[in-house]
Amino acid sequence: MPCINYTAKCFAQNIPHAKILSIDVSAVRRLPGVAAVLTAADIPGSKTFGIVTKNQQVLVSDKARYLGDGIVLIAAETREIAGRALRHISVSYRQLPVLSSPDEAMKPEAPSIHEGSNIFSHHKVRKGDVESGFSQADILLERRYQTQHIEHSYLEPEAVLAEPDEQGGVRITGSVQNLFSTRRSVAEVLNLDLAQVQIKQATLGGSFGGKDEASTLLCCRAALLTMATGRPVKMVNSREESMLESYKRHPYNMEYKLGAKRDGTPTAFEIRCIADGGAYASTSAFVTWRSVVQATGPYRCKNVKTDTLAVYTNNNYTGAMRGFGSPQVCFASETLMDELAEKLQMDPLTLRLKVVFRDGDVTATGQKLRHKVSLIEVLNEVAGISDFARKWGQNRNERRKAYPVKKGIGLACSYRGVSLGAEGADAAGVIVSVQTDGSLIVSSGLTDMGQGAQTAIAQIAAEVLGISLARVRFLNTNTSRVPDSGPTVASRTTIMGGSAAKSAAEKVLTAMKPVAAHLIDADNPENIVVQKNHFIDAETGRKVTFSRVADACFQRGVSLFGFGWFKSPKTTWDEETGRGDAYFTFVYGANVAEVEVDTETGKVKVSKFYAAHEVGRAINRAMVEGQIYGGVAMGLGYGLLEEFNFNQGSPTALNFDEYLLATALDVPQVECRIVENPDPVGPFGAKSIGEPANEIAAPAIINAIANATGKRIYQLPANLEQVLLGHKLAGSGARGSENFLG
Ligand code: MOS
Repeated sequence: MPCINYTAKCFAQNIPHAKILSIDVSAVRRLPGVAAVLTAADIPGSKTFGIVTKNQQVLVSDKARYLGDGIVLIAAETREIAGRALRHISVSYRQLPVLSSPDEAMKPEAPSIHEGSNIFSHHKVRKGDVESGFSQADILLERRYQTQHIEHSYLEPEAVLAEPDEQGGVRITGSVQNLFSTRRSVAEVLNLDLAQVQIKQATLGGSFGGKDEASTLLCCRAALLTMATGRPVKMVNSREESMLESYKRHPYNMEYKLGAKRDGTPTAFEIRCIADGGAYASTSAFVTWRSVVQATGPYRCKNVKTDTLAVYTNNNYTGAMRGFGSPQVCFASETLMDELAEKLQMDPLTLRLKVVFRDGDVTATGQKLRHKVSLIEVLNEVAGISDFARKWGQNRNERRKAYPVKKGIGLACSYRGVSLGAEGADAAGVIVSVQTDGSLIVSSGLTDMGQGAQTAIAQIAAEVLGISLARVRFLNTNTSRVPDSGPTVASRTTIMGGSAAKSAAEKVLTAMKPVAAHLIDADNPENIVVQKNHFIDAETGRKVTFSRVADACFQRGVSLFGFGWFKSPKTTWDEETGRGDAYFTFVYGANVAEVEVDTETGKVKVSKFYAAHEVGRAINRAMVEGQIYGGVAMGLGYGLLEEFNFNQGSPTALNFDEYLLATALDVPQVECRIVENPDPVGPFGAKSIGEPANEIAAPAIINAIANATGKRIYQLPANLEQVLLGHKLAGSGARGSENFLG
């Protein structure tokens, strides 16, 4: 049963929005070397899939909604045949108007991209009374901000191998971030039970939130071809296919109105964010929910009115990407607070220290923060190591001088909900299995995609059992071997998977202790401790190796297979009022960037970066720092370089020759401070770092540019044009008032 290595897709060529009138593949079917040709009509089960709203098409049946929509799927014996076969497909279209932005898609006369309104998600926060808040303000600032589409840019494009299994099902191995949601979709599309679909995670070459629906799509298609041919089918996206087909980070249009007292205290926030959701629903409803919770930033304010909307357009659909709705609002809220400080003639650190959340404060959604709130601590840490206040004042004085290259320093901070929060059921499972030689196999429903889950979860299990990490083998996820543990997203893996691993290892330990006690004649198993691969009787000091106890357990029929399940504490949410305990805990971070701005070219060089993050407790300091370095590098690209642009729904670049990413040459030295205030829920006190490390790098850089030049940037990326010529948003930026009132 040789594998089919060559597949080809017919995309909606250059027609992002079209009614499909007919698809004729009869000529392709006659070509020698073509193993299968499939259209939507050949799908046995559901023709669509999706995590929130199932409207993403596996193959287009009647309407193409973006250029990455696939219409016909071909499997062939050689690449040449697959490529040639594409030319024998005939599709007739009726073009529909292309809606290339939310502005166009929200017009009353705009055609519906799906059924009904193009606005497909709307979250609200209503707290206090913003009108009365604004009337108490001494200063009002109204600003508009805009962020761009960006690409995840994982090194490895999506790739999957589907094989028929022995009992009529399908087995898929691939670069998949969220195996269980993918399995649900494949099962629905093929009309199979979940038990008949096995998804095995191949070691991932990066994901950053990106290998969710993009990989699900590939899995569904490869599985369809496997079922049609009875043969293994490999599908590998080229970089161009990946960029054309995959989802991006949501661009946001944001309107912020902030009222504040002369001393900096915010009296009201009114915020409206419109996200370009692109062609399909994907996770937009969840992404914009995180935004609505986090939009004000970590600032005390009694009156808040926030709306976040997601709108269909004919651009690529948008979905999860590291931060998940926070990088956009962090850019707006953090640069706005910086501007407020400037208007009030305060420095940005003093203002923040005055108005950020402290222990017991109440968030925009009415949640009382009952844990240790570490904002003051991270702000002081990062300001201390960067000598922020002095440099900020000095740069400000020197920017009047005529040097073409000006120095700047900028600050940003955030609070971020850990895990899924009220957006979904939050539970995860880990299996710890001690082998007869004392080595350990850990299997988890959560995946390692390079972020370090493997190390963190294995370390937690090893710590509980007192054995060395070298004895632990962490398995890639396999949906048939571990329970559905939800998606590996939302920086939830260490806290959820780690807690489950801890509980699994504790169960095994409890089973081993009586056997160990017997081997070393200990009177009380309770007095046994584990340390350095030994069970030790704390009273007598007698000890026995972990591996001997493991073997003895096997001889006596004691099971050393531990299953741990961790369900998060309760969260609440009222969709109408936007009130609730949105997350069971939060993390806190502060970043400082130093820049050199060439005012003759607009070129910004980030010369030094400082990051302080409160992570509960660092399970592995080197890996926490690794996440911070990576997060800063990505944030630098978001702030200064990256933009995935469309022209009437057509991407303007489909490879890295034209899509600008930050490289090692752009990334400065990053100095980290890890702040530890152990969380009562997290395993050994751990919380999270993956996404927090990314969300405030860009605003710190943008604020540094303002410190250097005195000019504000309202639109990302701060490329040469932005820095040199300033904002170009229609009627925006410094639109409206920045007046002192009364
Ligand atoms: Mo992540 S952006 O929550 O996959």
